[in-house]
Amino acid sequence: MSHEEIRKEFIDFFVSKDHKLVPSSSLIPEDDPSVLLTTAGVQQFKPYMLNQKDVLKDFGTRRLCSIQKSFRTSDIDEVGDEHHLTFFEMLGNFSIGDYFKREAIEWAWEFLTKNLKLDPKNMYVTVFAGEKNIPEDSEAIKIWKEVAGENIRIEKFGREDNFWGPTGSSGPCGPCSEVIYVFANGVETELWNLVFTELFQDEKGNCAPLAQKNIDTGMGLERLVWVLQETPSVFETDLFKPIIDTAEDLAEVGKEKIDPKSLRIIADHARAATFLVGDGVAPSNSGRGYVLRRIIRRTVRHGQLLDINGLFLGQLMERVIEMYGEQYPHLLERQNEISETIEGEERKFGQTLKRGLKELEKMLDGPGIRGEDAFKLYDTYGFPLDLTVEIARERGFEVDTAGFEKEMEKQRKRARAAQKFEEYKPEEIAPLHTATHLLNQALREVLGPDIHQAGQDLTPERLRFDFTFDRKLEEEELKRIEEVANDWIKKDVPVECVETTYGEALKQGAEALFAEKYKQADKVVMYKIAGFSKELCAGPHVKSTGEVGSFKIMKQESVGRGVRRIYAKLPNV
Ligand code: ALA
Repeated sequence: MSHEEIRKEFIDFFVSKDHKLVPSSSLIPEDDPSVLLTTAGVQQFKPYMLNQKDVLKDFGTRRLCSIQKSFRTSDIDEVGDEHHLTFFEMLGNFSIGDYFKREAIEWAWEFLTKNLKLDPKNMYVTVFAGEKNIPEDSEAIKIWKEVAGENIRIEKFGREDNFWGPTGSSGPCGPCSEVIYVFANGVETELWNLVFTELFQDEKGNCAPLAQKNIDTGMGLERLVWVLQETPSVFETDLFKPIIDTAEDLAEVGKEKIDPKSLRIIADHARAATFLVGDGVAPSNSGRGYVLRRIIRRTVRHGQLLDINGLFLGQLMERVIEMYGEQYPHLLERQNEISETIEGEERKFGQTLKRGLKELEKMLDGPGIRGEDAFKLYDTYGFPLDLTVEIARERGFEVDTAGFEKEMEKQRKRARAAQKFEEYKPEEIAPLHTATHLLNQALREVLGPDIHQAGQDLTPERLRFDFTFDRKLEEEELKRIEEVANDWIKKDVPVECVETTYGEALKQGAEALFAEKYKQADKVVMYKIAGFSKELCAGPHVKSTGEVGSFKIMKQESVGRGVRRIYAKLPNV
């Protein structure tokens, strides 16, 4: 069976059991600060399990299934063996207060043994052994014996292995039961995880029953395809083979010298980077942007280990999009943006990698790598700390990571001091703050709704505004943007300041540049320009748009790939 057929078989099976297919949510979790990236199918359904949202209103049924784009940063260092991946697709079926353990177990077994015709002899199951006031899952044991026969091998494990969730510090969780597949050569893989989500864990770690019992299951598509296609690892399945082949063709190192681990890392990371950028992640030095940067840079390094000459990530990305475009059309739609972002990062890093490696070689002469050395590699050559650690380890050296952190903190302090210097009096800066909101909305009206603010800097003389857009603006467009902003200045509408919650502001369609920061806050401040724009912002602002006087664009420029900058001033203030 091809991977496309396997996806379809799964969905058809659960639709035949009255489940509704829900599209994958983004890799960037919506409104869930507990995780950096989406790690499981259940994530988008958490609010329904907690009764914060009404499942019947949104989906018309309590039975859902999905194929969820997922990313596990915790597995980055494991990539290279038979089955660890960063990005993967998770097949899952969910019950939001509908069926429970019996159906979940029955259907899992039916699907594996009847639809996919896997031999029961090659599988065993695990159940929760009981721990910390939560008893052994004797019910699951009983059901498994009824469903799969008295002789089914059942292993019991504690919290570490057979209890799932919550993601982050609190949320829905529960005991789980896993189906393990054993290959002929003895290699085992966890195939399907069935979570009996009936508990809520609070911040202190106390568990209490949820109002309703839920089911959350997850089966990694790649592992399932591996089992069904009986390949040595996930990387020979039809989900990876074309990517691996492309990388292998590009390698100049000589067939016998190719390290399969490098090929696997390149294939995993190229696919993952394509999906991350496809969902709007841009390389940066923190958060998910850093995860992306790290995997792109690691790919470039392994490309050099295989003597791949010139830029190569673009070709891999094209292959990934060819393979996945039908299932994930947004990749096709955003192909240009994805290739520009990935190639931009590749180019930037490729140039410094060689020089940085030389520098690193010199450092490896001593007893180990000092914190300030690692920081220099980071600051001057763009080596993420993990890359330095990885290379040093390969050569038997340790890196002083605590010393590195100290250097980082010093740099943060320097940056903060520089920022302080730029603070101005509120009355000097308020009209400029309001003007940026006018500009932000005017850009969207003239250029389209996909424009997002990417940064800003204000001095009493001018405003500087960065936004996502991938080409130079026409004179006509600049004029039109000025006109829209000036129209709203002339209308002299009130600028209202509203205190609200982040969730409520999003519901009302507010723009938020610093989403991460706002998400953590109990209360956020939203500035509304009546009838025109809503934005989360700390201000200060003028009381009505008339006080901005007039708005004039001075110049535009490019700041890196996909980001434009506009300078403007307020001649009448
Ligand atoms: N949410 C469960 C997991 O990720 C199914 O394993």
